[in-house]
Amino acid sequence: MLNKKSVDDINVKGKRVLVRCDFNVPLIDGKITDDTRLVAALPTIKKLINDGGKVILCSHLGKPKGEPKPELSLAPVAVALEKLLGQPVKFAADATVVGENAKAAVEAMNDGDVVLLENTRYRAEETKNGEEFSKELASLCDVFVNDAFGTAHRAHCSNVGVTHFVDTAVVGYLMQKEIDFLGNAVNTPVRPFVAILGGSKVSSKISVINNLLEKVDTLIIGGGMSYTFMKAMGEEVGKSLLEEDYLDYANQMIAKAKERGVNLLLPVDTVVAKEFSNDAPFRTVERGEIAADEMGLDIGEKTQALYADAIKNAKTVVWNGPMGVFEMSNFAKGTIAVAEALANIEGTTIIGGGDSAAAVNQLGFADKMTHISTGGGASLEFLEGKELPGVAAANDR
Ligand code: 3PG
Repeated sequence: MLNKKSVDDINVKGKRVLVRCDFNVPLIDGKITDDTRLVAALPTIKKLINDGGKVILCSHLGKPKGEPKPELSLAPVAVALEKLLGQPVKFAADATVVGENAKAAVEAMNDGDVVLLENTRYRAEETKNGEEFSKELASLCDVFVNDAFGTAHRAHCSNVGVTHFVDTAVVGYLMQKEIDFLGNAVNTPVRPFVAILGGSKVSSKISVINNLLEKVDTLIIGGGMSYTFMKAMGEEVGKSLLEEDYLDYANQMIAKAKERGVNLLLPVDTVVAKEFSNDAPFRTVERGEIAADEMGLDIGEKTQALYADAIKNAKTVVWNGPMGVFEMSNFAKGTIAVAEALANIEGTTIIGGGDSAAAVNQLGFADKMTHISTGGGASLEFLEGKELPGVAAANDR
């Protein structure tokens, strides 16, 4: 059980608080196209403002590779945050992140003020977890708060190195929520515990499948990765996505599920087409009946019902990866059906970041889920059972 000190355990009145957020938001022509991560950071920021802290925010944005790239400046984030917080956010535009602007801005802060530093990846040392930049960041603050769950699988200066040079390093509310759900709820689940895994590739979810098989009562597989499992069971999958190199692995996982008494569910029918296109004519076929010139692009109606039934009495469900090509309306029905089934259950529903979070948001089910992770890679690594450096670096309770 992970038990980290949080913003509720500290007194920040009059103190300089450096808060590492994940403001890695999508930008098109300088405009933020999805502010989910900004909104998710607000509870911690507001709490620190209300408690009278001097709130210094920092984050990376994209991959500027150690150089100041104007198109990856955090300046638009400062503007968006001002609107969301309803108070000024002073942007310290230093190419070196902790430069003259940042130092002067922090020096001039009153209790409850907010300053935002420039993109931490403007500094080459950031991604190398270098000591010098970690010290510079630490020199700006009395207390460090890490609320950047999306970055927790990285060991960088602004989320790990800096903690070595401050006395107090705690987690924020967002990080705490992610730890509670993706970490603790998955490791000590209320049962029955069901995991639903989809997405295109077995290869990208090897460790997730392996780890979850040790914890779940039922493992549901859909999406592109299901064809490698079907093929491993000797079925024809036509032109469907197939990872030949992972057939043995799929067989090992099938055997592991049997050994551990895990109910492993694969699609019993499949929506197939001859082309990877929303305009392609499509039909639904029974398991094992995909023709040589067809590819599976979604789960069929019988599978939708089977999966909905398997999760209806679950007390904990974790879902990562779509059931089909949900970006194409003709092949989105399986993913919609699973989202709908999850929205209707009483148990805890946890959605991994990335594609599954995007699907749930786009399909309008976001407010029906218990938790939707803000981390892509980080949520996957958490589900793999790995220790995340950004989480580990915070002080234990
Ligand atoms: C993310 O978007 O997953 C995080 O912000 C981490 O970004 P990165 O993959 O560039 O480290």
